[in-house]
Amino acid sequence: MRKPVVLITGAAGEIGHALVDHLVADGSEATITVDLRPLEPDLDAKVTRAFTGSILDQALLDAIQAEYAVDRIFHLAALLSTRCEYTPVAAHEVNVRGTLNLLEFAAGQARSHGSTVAFFYPSSIAAYGIPADIEAPDSGWREAQHTLPTTMYGCNKLYCEHLGRYYAHHYKQLDAEPQAGRVDFRSLRFPGLISAHTLPSGGTSDYAPEMIHAAAQGQPYECFVRPDTRIPFMAMPDAVDAILAFCAAPRQQLTQTVYNLTAFAPTADAIRSLVLQEFPKAQIGYTVDDRRQRIVDSWPQRVDDSAARSDWGLAPRFDLDAAFGEYLIPTIAARYAAAKP
Ligand code: SER
Repeated sequence: MRKPVVLITGAAGEIGHALVDHLVADGSEATITVDLRPLEPDLDAKVTRAFTGSILDQALLDAIQAEYAVDRIFHLAALLSTRCEYTPVAAHEVNVRGTLNLLEFAAGQARSHGSTVAFFYPSSIAAYGIPADIEAPDSGWREAQHTLPTTMYGCNKLYCEHLGRYYAHHYKQLDAEPQAGRVDFRSLRFPGLISAHTLPSGGTSDYAPEMIHAAAQGQPYECFVRPDTRIPFMAMPDAVDAILAFCAAPRQQLTQTVYNLTAFAPTADAIRSLVLQEFPKAQIGYTVDDRRQRIVDSWPQRVDDSAARSDWGLAPRFDLDAAFGEYLIPTIAARYAAAKP
């Protein structure tokens, strides 16, 4: 008999790193991972098996299919927004072809073990493309408004939201035995995420985490967006809690396959001020990169996450002050202090 497991792709990345810990601590199911990079040793020790390889490698997915009965998938592997603009075709391959591979894998798993496969997919505020001359309403933009992304990453995310909805509700709809419903696809549109433990690479919201981590290490930092730039953010523990709460919600409670979520929406300068309060000697300047600025300017300043709050109880613990005071500053300071020789 094949072994029942949860599969995490992109497990060595920002969200994966935090999620693996929670899933393993929960202990209810064995965890296998796929990532191009080997997992860090502490993470590697916690999982049942870590495959080092690509989600584009069909032979690898077939080998996993043969050995394991996967009933939950967290498909986190992706190239981030700035990186995608340098290699848009490779980005499409990883972000779209890779996701299609995993959705087919999920459908195949569901067929072979006869029960639904839960599929979590992280989407992004990059799925939006907000026109320059429009003010966000105070309540923020709803999921279906202004979804005309200007980046390859945003196009990939938006299309994969639709692919997931197709697999969940319309897959092979002309077959004599339609196969919709076997993949329980759920997606969250994340704001910029800030982790005390890991730094993202290749994202365009990275100025916030980069500013904080540089200050904690006593390194100067040049912020690549204007001081008045504003997008929504969330602290990583809230992102992980949201994934787990959303995935645990009964299907019938959900009115959408894709939900916005947000916790706070500071300007870049507000983040800088908070960092300077904690690290008064930090040197943080501005060297604006107009091209990256244009990308961030196309993203919403605020999103409306009321559907997530009412359908499945989204309730982030950390507002901006708490994220800094209770999570980022103590955890980051301890992390870099421990790393000092
Ligand atoms: N934070 C991501 C990025 O900047 C967006 O999801 O690419």
